[in-house]
Amino acid sequence: MQVIIFDDAQQVADSAAQWVAELINKKPNPVLGLATGSTPISLYKALVNKHKAGELSFKNTTSFNLDEYLGIDGTNVQSYRHFMNENLFDHVDIDKSQTFLPTCNQGENPREQGLAYEEKIKQAGGVDLQILGIGANGHIGFNEPTSSLASRTRIKTLTQQTLDDNSRLFAADEFQPTLAMTMGIATILDARYVILMATGKNKAKAVKDMVTGALSAVCPASALQLHENAIILLDKEAASEL
Ligand code: GLP
Repeated sequence: MQVIIFDDAQQVADSAAQWVAELINKKPNPVLGLATGSTPISLYKALVNKHKAGELSFKNTTSFNLDEYLGIDGTNVQSYRHFMNENLFDHVDIDKSQTFLPTCNQGENPREQGLAYEEKIKQAGGVDLQILGIGANGHIGFNEPTSSLASRTRIKTLTQQTLDDNSRLFAADEFQPTLAMTMGIATILDARYVILMATGKNKAKAVKDMVTGALSAVCPASALQLHENAIILLDKEAASEL
């Protein structure tokens, strides 16, 4: 695990963008693992800027997102599909038919959908670089505490803490999903490189548990201790308990 501490959140985003740009410019058919949440928004802004400056083309890039809510579809403004369109896909030259999120619509079998997502990743050649944020309770993707370290893409019930943390993004009368389909921890560990971005004081405890705590399902992000190429990009506040 390589931990790099920057002065501020913008430097974290710029560094992550450099990693992504390097991969895309080097590999003929890069496969990106993407994340949602407020943390990677500045990374996506930096990537859009690089694209507009003519430094980066996503033409041959395939992407797989970590997770998606259940019970709302991709046209819902709260869906992670919508988030990705708004923050990245609509502003770059990526072929949208090559952008995937783990979904399970009504009537579909969750087990089959999970296996199919894993298979699709495999067929694409595996994820080259997985972007991650971290929940205040140490979750990655929607792998909440006590998720098996060997887990694969499946449905997870969100914890009350995660629902509370994310409730700021929902209007009072808006439906907030309590279930999500998420890549598993083993799925994430299969990526060749993992870049976890964490900024702000409210992530300091989770970052401490991830980096210096025991390898444990209680802090799902601690599984990155097992990864050969895990790069942790932090601002000073997120690193304040290290
Ligand atoms: C959600 C996402 C995670 C993300 C986390 C933290 O629960 N499923 O992938 O890392 O939120 O989000 P934020 O960056 O907004 O703190």
